[in-house]
Amino acid sequence: MIEIKNISKTFKNNKVLDGIDLTINQGDVVAIIGPSGTGKSTFLRCVDRLEKPETGTITIDGETQDLAHIHGKDLTELRKKTGMVFQNFNLFSKKTALQNVMEGLIVVKKMKKEEAERIAREQLKNVGLLDHANHYPRHMSGGQQQRVAIARALAMEPKLLLLDEPTSALDPELVGEVLDTIKKAANEGYTMLLVSHEMSFVRNVATRVIFLDGGKILEDGTPREVFGNPKNERVKEFFTKINRMEEPDYSI
Ligand SMILES: Nc1ncnc2c1ncn2[C@@H]1O[C@H](COP(=O)(O)OP(=O)(O)O)[C@@H](O)[C@H]1O
Ligand SMILES: [Mg+2]
Repeated sequence: MIEIKNISKTFKNNKVLDGIDLTINQGDVVAIIGPSGTGKSTFLRCVDRLEKPETGTITIDGETQDLAHIHGKDLTELRKKTGMVFQNFNLFSKKTALQNVMEGLIVVKKMKKEEAERIAREQLKNVGLLDHANHYPRHMSGGQQQRVAIARALAMEPKLLLLDEPTSALDPELVGEVLDTIKKAANEGYTMLLVSHEMSFVRNVATRVIFLDGGKILEDGTPREVFGNPKNERVKEFFTKINRMEEPDYSI
């Protein structure tokens, strides 16, 4: 079980997160949805401390860390337990796919090169890119780059995988291969916190959906509950808006 408590984050006068609590069961795929600019990315970034919150703790495997003050060895340990997949892949451009996946294993996990390479090849195979091991990011499609980024995150065996709109920078025809890769990881039992605008995917793969707005969690339930029967007015309004966007603006 992973317990996140009381995360608050303010940028200047803008209180983006107002004491967020979230308990995640092992194997859960928790999707975070909500309007743009509502703090979804900030929340993920606070959880693995790319962003420093004013308050907040995280408990993984019974070990609690204070996210507002964590540093040094504790921070390295937290980073070992969490893995992030970014919207824009964030691969090292001067490293091959294989070297990208090996990097964290060698630098953070202090693995020997041979062991890191064995694991990296296994992970690339898992995402269907073993034949691209020696390719540089610029010679791969966005979908392939994101699959390498997922392999890189999974190679670290994170207790919690964080995915921030992993398909939103992709051309539409490349979205499917990345969603399939995420779904496979979900089926393998990885615990995930996923920000996504792909509502049908969220419905399909998430075990739980939370709606974030105004610094708070306004809705929390199964996809069926949250999509089918939202209680909060702001959430209802959000769904009405996105449904309107999905309707064709022409008729035959
Ligand atoms: N580094 C930053 N400095 C100042 N404001 C920021 C920073 N990062 C995010 N924000 C602000 O925090 C709010 C939430 O941003 P973000 O977490 O990116 O939202 P979302 O991911 O839900 O679209 C926005 O108003 C954004 O402008
Ligand atoms: Mg965002």
